[in-house]
Amino acid sequence: MSRPLIFTLRTLQVLAAGLALVALAACGERPPIVTKQLGYRGTGMEQNVNPRLEAVKLAANQAPATPDEASPDGPKASEVYQNVKVLGDLSVAQFSRHMAAITQWVSPQEGCNYCHNGENFADDSKYTKVVARRMIQMTQHINQDWQKHVAATGVTCYTCHRGNPVPQNVWYKPADRKYTENSVMGDLAGQNIGAKSVGLSSLPNDPFTPYLLGNQDIRVNGNEALRMTGAARNTHSTKQAEHTYGLMVHMSTALGANCTTCHNTRNWQEWTNAPPQRVTAWYGIRMARDLNNEYIVPLTDTFPANRKGPHGDVAKVYCATCHQGVQKPLYGAAMAKGFPELLTLAKPASALPAPLVDAMKTVMYFDIGSPLLQGPQAAGMAQVIATLQATPGAKVTISGYHSAAGALDQNQELAKQRAFAVRDALTTAGIAADRVVLEKPLSAEANLAGEDPAARRAEVTVTTAKPK
Ligand code: HEC
Ligand code: HEC
Ligand code: HEC
Ligand code: HEC
Repeated sequence: MSRPLIFTLRTLQVLAAGLALVALAACGERPPIVTKQLGYRGTGMEQNVNPRLEAVKLAANQAPATPDEASPDGPKASEVYQNVKVLGDLSVAQFSRHMAAITQWVSPQEGCNYCHNGENFADDSKYTKVVARRMIQMTQHINQDWQKHVAATGVTCYTCHRGNPVPQNVWYKPADRKYTENSVMGDLAGQNIGAKSVGLSSLPNDPFTPYLLGNQDIRVNGNEALRMTGAARNTHSTKQAEHTYGLMVHMSTALGANCTTCHNTRNWQEWTNAPPQRVTAWYGIRMARDLNNEYIVPLTDTFPANRKGPHGDVAKVYCATCHQGVQKPLYGAAMAKGFPELLTLAKPASALPAPLVDAMKTVMYFDIGSPLLQGPQAAGMAQVIATLQATPGAKVTISGYHSAAGALDQNQELAKQRAFAVRDALTTAGIAADRVVLEKPLSAEANLAGEDPAARRAEVTVTTAKPK
C-alpha cells in the first residue's frame, strides 16, 4: 500500500541525484571528458575533448577518394562544347572528370540534371548551373588568394557541400523578434533566445551580419585600462561586446575548439601571447566576409525565393560552412590538390580578335553575353563614320549576330542590342538615323562553337546609291 509522501533526508538525496543527472543530460555530453594541454603550463590553456564524440566526428569528416587523373591531350572543352566560360582550357577528358566530381560533391542523388537541361547541356536555364559556374570561380579564388587561411590544403566543393546541394551549415539574417507589437521594451535585438547560432547562449542571435557581411570592429576592450577620455578611450559599446562574444562562440563551436585554441585567456585582446591559430582565424573572418560580399550576395537575384531567408537574403558562408565542428576541415585532408583546375583562377575567356576594318565593311566583336562595343572594338566605328561622312548618299546596314549556344529568345535580344549599340554609336557621331538600316538578328553559322568570338559580332556594310 502506498504511504503518504514524506520528505525525508533520503528522498531529498534521491531528488538531488536525479536533478544532477537531468543537468548532465541537458549538457548533451555524456562523459568521459579528456583534457589536452594547449599552452604553457599554468596558463590554463586546454582543450576538453570527449573521445567518444571525437570518434563520431572523425568518421563524419572524411574526404572522398580522388578519382584517377584524366588525360590532358585532345581538343579543349572550349573547342568542343558550346557554352564553357570558365573551364574551357581543360581537355574534354579532364572536363568530364570535373563534371563527374562536382556531381558527387554537390548533387549525388539528383545527378547531372540538377544543373543541366538533359536535352541541351549548353543551356543555362537552370539557376543551379549559373550558381555552380560562379561557385567554381569562388573555389578557385579561395585556393589562390586565401592561402593565408586555407594554406596548401585548400578547399573543393565537397568542403562545404558534402553531397548536399545546399550546404548544411549556412546562415541567413534571422527574422525580427519583438516582445510584442508596440512594446515599450522595444527591440529584443535577437537576445535571450538561446539561439543555436550562438551556442544556445543569451547573446544576440546574429553576430554574422556585422562581421561576416559588414566590417565592424570585433572589439571589447579599449587600448588602455580604465582610460575614459582621450584617443585611447574605449569607444566600444556593450552591444559590440555582445556581438563579439556571439561571434567567438560561433567560431569555437564551428571548430570544436575551446577559446584557448586562439587566446591566452589571461588577456583576450593581446596577440603576442596568443597561439598562431588566432592569426589564421583573423584571415578566416576576412575570407568569409569576402566570399559573402563578392560571390554569394551578388547571386541573390539568381536564386529562387524558396532558397532565401526571412529577409530575402541568400544562404551565406560562416566558419561552420567549411569547418563543420572540426579544427581543420576534413581533418586537414588536402583534397584540392587532386583537382588542379580548382587551384587558380581561370584566365578570362580568350581575348576578342581585332575588328575587321574596311572602307565598305566593318566587323566588330562582343564579349560573351555582352551588348557593349568596348575597347579596341569601338575603334572599328571610326572607319564607317569616315566613309559615311565622305559619301553623303551612302547608307549602312547593320546585322547583329549571336552564338548558337543558350536560349534562342535571349540570344536574339542580345543580337538586337548589339545592332542597336552600333546604330547608337553612328547617330551619336552625327549620322542621320534614316541612313541606318537594321537587319533582323542572325544566328551565327551552325558550325561555330559557342565560344568562338566570331559568333558574337556585328557587321556593318556601307551601301552607296547605284549610279544612274
Ligand atoms: C553542380 C552543377 C553541375 C552538375 C551536377 C553537372 N554540371 Fe555540367 N556544367 C556545369 C557548369 C557550371 C558548366 C559550365 C562550365 C563553364 O562555363 O566553364 C557545365 C558544362 C557542361 C558541359 C558543356 C556543355 C556545353 O556545350 O557548353 C557538359 C557536356 C557537361 N557540363 C556535362 C555534365 C555531365 C555529363 C554531368 C553529370 C555527370 C554534369 N555536367 C553535371 C555544372 C554542372
Ligand atoms: C565556401 C563554401 C562553398 C564552396 C567551396 C562551394 N559552395 Fe556551392 N554553395 C555554398 C553556399 C553558401 C550556397 C548557397 C546555398 C543555397 O543554395 O541557398 C551554395 C549553393 C550552391 C548551389 C545551388 C544549390 C541550390 O540548390 O540552391 C550549387 C549548384 C553549388 N553551390 C555548386 C557548387 C560547386 C559546383 C562548387 C565547387 C566548384 C561549390 N558549390 C563550392 C557554399 C559553397
Ligand atoms: C578560432 C580562433 C578563436 C577562437 C576559438 C576564439 N577567438 Fe576570440 N578572437 C579571435 C580573433 C581572430 C579575434 C580578433 C578579431 C578581429 O580583430 O578581427 C578575437 C577577438 C576576441 C575578443 C576581442 C578582444 C579585443 O580586442 O577587444 C574577445 C573578448 C574574444 N575574442 C573572446 C573569445 C572567447 C570568450 C572565446 C571562446 C568562447 C573566443 N574568443 C574564441 C579568435 C578566436
Ligand atoms: C572556405 C572554407 C573555410 C572557411 C569559410 C573557414 N575556414 Fe578555417 N580553415 C579552412 C581550411 C581548409 C583550413 C586548413 C588550413 C591548413 O591546413 O593549415 C582552415 C584552418 C583554420 C584554422 C587553423 C587550425 C589549426 O589548427 O592550424 C583556424 C583557427 C580556422 N581555420 C578558423 C576559422 C574561422 C574562425 C573561420 C570563420 C571566421 C573559418 N576558419 C572559416 C577552411 C575554411
